[in-house]
Amino acid sequence: LKSNNTDLAASSALTRPALGALPPEKAERAQSQKVRRASESAGGAIRDETRKDRGSRAEALQFHCHNNHTGRGPGKGEQKMSKTVNDIMQMKSKEKITVLTGYDSTMTTLCDKADVILVGDSASNVMAGHKTTLPITLDEMIYHASSVMRAIERALVIVDLPFGTYQGNSIEALNSAIRIMKESGANAIKMEGGEEILESVDRVLSAGIPVIGHLGLTPQSIYKFGTYTVRAQENKEAKRLIEDAKLLDKLGCFGIVLEKIPASVSKKVTNAINIPVIGIGAGSDVDGQVLVTHDLVGLSTEFNPRFLRRYVDLNDIMSKAIKSYIKDVKNLNFPNKNEQY
Ligand code: KIV
Repeated sequence: LKSNNTDLAASSALTRPALGALPPEKAERAQSQKVRRASESAGGAIRDETRKDRGSRAEALQFHCHNNHTGRGPGKGEQKMSKTVNDIMQMKSKEKITVLTGYDSTMTTLCDKADVILVGDSASNVMAGHKTTLPITLDEMIYHASSVMRAIERALVIVDLPFGTYQGNSIEALNSAIRIMKESGANAIKMEGGEEILESVDRVLSAGIPVIGHLGLTPQSIYKFGTYTVRAQENKEAKRLIEDAKLLDKLGCFGIVLEKIPASVSKKVTNAINIPVIGIGAGSDVDGQVLVTHDLVGLSTEFNPRFLRRYVDLNDIMSKAIKSYIKDVKNLNFPNKNEQY
């Protein structure tokens, strides 16, 4: 991917007037017009675009990530850049991308061998014990993301924008994304939805923040779906999902997560767009896989979807260790002479 100044000057992201320089109502109008144009073109013009045109905005974002604006790299005490969005994009069709969720420093150290760590709003379930992902707050997501960033050395870190911080208000979306980037030091943002959150995605991207989309079974919409069953089984929903994926690609997202949809539909999406597709319960014909770490190591026991492979039963191993500790203390076997001062 090119990243010289000529390419940057040609990219739409950098040549258009800064919306922030306009009075708020004009900026809002300009933003709406631009988003409408993108939405309209997604149906028709998107098919006519060349690969080069499509890539320009994502390339601009990658340039920012790599060069840190000054081209001098990170300053003293700043977060060292490990894997970049560019690295992940270049893996499409070449090498499968591995993604694990991370919420704290200890587990992140273990998971840092994956290509990407996702600070998922599944923290709402896994860490906080809520039934859905809806209750988790922006402050809580920043807390988890900061904990991950303190441990990370090589993986790219993506953070979920939590429910209620970006839908329906693109300025709030941008402010939420900026808070995550500034306060945690993470590398990118994930947002659930397609056309309905177009303006929010576009505004976050326009600030130079890399965005990955999330389509299919989007848990923040669980009350709309009413069930955690496989999405896009009907033709109409599958067609809409494919159009949404193309739209997110055209807007400049660097990837898309597809959750719990038929493998045949994810294959179509993977072939139809130029950015990586990361699946969870979406079959093998995608560019990478994501699993919730606590599920794959068997710490969670009640979540048993067909797509989940448990690689170890940590729940059993830890339960036995905890029982042994309690027994040893009760029986005066812990601590022994060597375990005291
Ligand atoms: O929140 C999360 O962990 C996720 C993944 C399961 C894709 O969104």
